[in-house]
Amino acid sequence: MNTRTAAATRPEEERLTLDEAAIDRARENLDDGALTPSAGPWRGQIVELLNAALATELVCVLRYKRHHFTAHGIASPAIAAEFMIHANEETAHADRIAERIVQLGGEPDFNPSSLLERSHAEYDDSDSLEAMIRANLVAERVAVETYRQMIRLIGDKDPTTRRLIEDVLVDEEEHADEMKDLLSRQ
Ligand SMILES: [Fe+2]
Ligand SMILES: [Fe+2]
Repeated sequence: MNTRTAAATRPEEERLTLDEAAIDRARENLDDGALTPSAGPWRGQIVELLNAALATELVCVLRYKRHHFTAHGIASPAIAAEFMIHANEETAHADRIAERIVQLGGEPDFNPSSLLERSHAEYDDSDSLEAMIRANLVAERVAVETYRQMIRLIGDKDPTTRRLIEDVLVDEEEHADEMKDLLSRQ
């Protein structure tokens, strides 16, 4: 069967047809900015997922900063510096996630009183370098698992959010690898 015949016999429901009415509606409601009709019914739930991710990132910032300033021991200067690099990268993640929440018409939740309850990862104020690294490795693995699940859940419901989370996941996997290496040297 040549391709022309295949195309001619393809069932009507398989045609890739744009929703022209939705494109027309995109010309209205300009206050919605990037939010157009196909942003659809998942928007609220995606904002909820993003707010939990935002809380997680903020807790990670606080944990890494605490570790940066309290790390001590022979190897501590290099490791403390690594903790601060991670704190800054988690800050950048939090900022990108908050920005996306606003683009989706949601409200980024920075309320400190409920941060830990809403975060997937834990805070940690261990004194030993090894315990700090271990706590960070656990948190990074929690972040990696959470973001992998979010990518699957969001799928093609919101490609921009999915790409954002895919970017963040790359960093979290690097963080987890780095913490694993540090732990193996303790
Ligand atoms: Fe992060
Ligand atoms: Fe991380």
